[in-house]
Amino acid sequence: MSAVRTPAKHFAPLAIGAPEPYRALPVRIERMIHFVPPHNEKIRSKIKDIASQVDVVLGNLEDAIPVGDKEAARKGFIQMARENDFGTTGLWTRINCLNSPWMLDDVTEIVREAGNKVDVIMLPKVEGPWDIHYLDQLLAQLEAKYAVTKPILIHAILETAEGVKNVEAIAAASPRMHGMSLGPADLAASRGMKTTRVGGGHPDYYVLEDAGGEGAARARFQQDLWHYTVGKMVDACLAYGLKPFYGPFGDFSDGAACEAQFRNAFIQGCLGAWSLHPTQIDIAKRVFSPDVKEVAFARRILEAMPDGTGAVMIDGKMQDDATWKQAKVIVDLARLVAKKDPERATAYGF
Ligand code: GLV
Ligand code: MG
Repeated sequence: MSAVRTPAKHFAPLAIGAPEPYRALPVRIERMIHFVPPHNEKIRSKIKDIASQVDVVLGNLEDAIPVGDKEAARKGFIQMARENDFGTTGLWTRINCLNSPWMLDDVTEIVREAGNKVDVIMLPKVEGPWDIHYLDQLLAQLEAKYAVTKPILIHAILETAEGVKNVEAIAAASPRMHGMSLGPADLAASRGMKTTRVGGGHPDYYVLEDAGGEGAARARFQQDLWHYTVGKMVDACLAYGLKPFYGPFGDFSDGAACEAQFRNAFIQGCLGAWSLHPTQIDIAKRVFSPDVKEVAFARRILEAMPDGTGAVMIDGKMQDDATWKQAKVIVDLARLVAKKDPERATAYGF
C-alpha cells in the first residue's frame, strides 16, 4: 500500500496560488481523443475545422514526432492553442515521457504560454504514483506562477508492465487525475508480447474447438489480447471516479477490426478511444455513442420504475434496482452525447 495524504491535504492545492483541485471531474463527452502532429503547418491551419468534428483535439509531442521536430511540435501546439477557440471541444497535449530531454520544457513552456487553454496533459509511460506526484507538484507550481485559473488534469497512458502492476495506485495518486488510456504498442513491447501490431487481435491468439471425429475440421476462436488489461484499468479508474479509454488502433485499412476493438472497450466500460486517422473519428462516434435501440429500452426501464426500486417485467425480462442503474448509465451518456451531437439527439428522441 502506498502512502497517501490525509483527505484534507489530498484536496489542497500543492502550491500557494494554484487553483483548487476538482472534487469531481468536469462533465464532458470524450468519445475520441483526436491526435494531430502540431509541427505540421497544414494541419494547424485546419484545426478549427477538425475541432468542430471531434470531442477532443490532442497535440502530440511524443512518439511519432521525429527527434528533429520535437521543439517545432511544442511551439506548434502553443500556437494552435493560442490562436483557436475550442469551445466545448477539449484541448489536450501528449507530452514527452518523464525521462526524456524534452519533458520539462514541454510542461514549462505550455503552461506559461497556454496554461489557461489546456484541459488535460496526457503523460506517457506512467509506471507508478511517483510519476503522477512529480507532474502534479510541477503543474501546481507552474499554475501558481503563471496565474492559471483552473487545474490542468493528468491523463496517464497505461503502457508498461510496471504501470499495469501499479494501476490502482496511479488512479489514486492525485485529484488531478482525469483518467487513463491503454497503450497497446508500448505495452506489448514492455511485456514481451509477440506482436508487431498497434492494438487489435492476433491470428495466433485463439482457442481451438474440441476435437470431433477423425479428420474433422476444428474451428478456431480468436481471443481478445487486451481483455485482461482493459478490465483491470476500468476497475481501477471507476473505483476512483476516473475515465478509462482504449488507446490507438494502428491498422487504418481495417475499419471493421478497429470498430470491434473500440466496441469491446466501450461495452467493458471505456468512454472513448484515440483517433489517429480521420476515418477513425466516425468509428469512435458510432461506437462510443450508445445504441439508439439500447437507449430506447433503457428509457423504458427508467419510466417503468420512476423511483428506481422494486421489480417489473419488460418484454419478458426482469428489471430491478440494479438494471435501473444500468439503464441510467446508458441514458445519462446518451443525454451527454445529445448535447454535442444534434443528429443523435433526434435519433434518441430527446
Ligand atoms: C500508445 O502510446 C501505445 O504505445 O500504444
Ligand atoms: Mg506509447
